[in-house]
Amino acid sequence: MSPLQRCASLLSLFIILAQGVLAALEALRQEDKLPAAAFALDDACLAGHENSETDSCDLSLRQLRTTRRNETLAVVNQTLDEHTQNEDTLPHGHPSASKVYPKLPGFTLWLVEEFDQPLDLEKDPIWTWSDGGLKEGQVRFVKEQIKFEDGKMKIEVKANHGHQQTCSNAQSEDVPHKALVSGEMRTRLNMFRYGRYEVRMKAPTVQPHKPNVDGNFVSTMFVFRDASFKHWREIDVEIEGKAPGSITVNVLTADYTSKWRPSMQESKHLSYQHMNVRAEFHDYAFEWLPGVIRWYVDGKVVREKRNDRLEVPNKSAKIMMNLWIYNHVHGVPFGGEHLENDRFPMESEYDWLRFYKWDGDQHYPPADMSSKSLTADDMYLASNNPCSA
Ligand SMILES: *[C@@H]1O[C@H](CO)[C@@H](O)[C@H](O)[C@H]1NC(C)=O
Ligand SMILES: *[C@@H]1O[C@H](CO)[C@@H](O)[C@H](O)[C@H]1NC(C)=O
Ligand SMILES: *[C@@H]1O[C@H](CO)[C@@H](O)[C@H](O)[C@H]1NC(C)=O
Repeated sequence: MSPLQRCASLLSLFIILAQGVLAALEALRQEDKLPAAAFALDDACLAGHENSETDSCDLSLRQLRTTRRNETLAVVNQTLDEHTQNEDTLPHGHPSASKVYPKLPGFTLWLVEEFDQPLDLEKDPIWTWSDGGLKEGQVRFVKEQIKFEDGKMKIEVKANHGHQQTCSNAQSEDVPHKALVSGEMRTRLNMFRYGRYEVRMKAPTVQPHKPNVDGNFVSTMFVFRDASFKHWREIDVEIEGKAPGSITVNVLTADYTSKWRPSMQESKHLSYQHMNVRAEFHDYAFEWLPGVIRWYVDGKVVREKRNDRLEVPNKSAKIMMNLWIYNHVHGVPFGGEHLENDRFPMESEYDWLRFYKWDGDQHYPPADMSSKSLTADDMYLASNNPCSA
């Protein structure tokens, strides 16, 4: 290395470190700016109330949701009726008859979606749609923005010319009007846990046919425990609009809080020079096992996380895929600085999804894929849609 090169690499190291410090400061500022929860959950709910369904925490939530209880029950009943499959039919979902799926020692291929045919998200026994919308985001999730075309599942963000009701079963609190609509495809129930989650996907280009233009979006595949205000558990692959090779892998853990804060998250941001995640499909995966999570990009381990500051989650969750745009009024632009470059509509594409169950998990997913063996906590206010308040 020439002295000039050495100087340049030191300079770039300094820039990277400085960016890290700035990001941490911004994250703290951002926490301050996030609006207070729409309900006084954080005050009412203290850790240790987990097993009591009658304490103040659960009561305050129940009051919020009384008008939605009937819909919640209806969804649960519908799910019970329709989930009666057995292991002979493995994998579940819609695998291709002509494809040979890789085998993984110690795992069983449990769920495959090829997206060759449209899924009926009202009737599918495993998958449905979310009627939510992130507090810090600019999009409202609606069913219509999840599309099945050309053998892909596509999620499209576009201007919101409609009027969605503020009520949301997925969000458990009202969602104000959002400037944009998008989609979130999710499993109906918190029934997935240890195993390998794998997706082949392409992030959106923020302008048509311009994969090198940076903008703002968060394009995902993740597991998330619903209701998150009780037990927030999340393991993510999040592709961001900040650079053509920008991928963030996350784990989040918190109890009895509805507000994100930096201490509940352990993130690793990857920035690859050799790939453009908006121009090409790539494979993203994570293996979630007791005490360890390993994330993969195109089959190579990119991060391993063990029980340290945050423990590896051990509660079941839903599988989710969504696309959203950050709202810059909340501070530092998560998802990319150049929001002004975003042109709508824009869309992400999913070629397939696979879930391999870890053979050591005795509880999840249940063999019959029904809610019968799920716990009350797994089912607690875990409805997805629709809200007809
Ligand atoms: C639930 O449905 C029942 C019967 O349809 C109705 O009488 C009751 O008022 C509903 N409860 C709520 C909270 O909406
Ligand atoms: C759901 O099923 C339970 C048990 O079968 C029944 O008591 C309840 O009325 C059903 N609720 C709805 C909303 O259909
Ligand atoms: C599950 O995780 C919690 C919190 O991290 C921990 O206290 C508990 O011991 C774990 N349970 C099992 C069975 O590992």
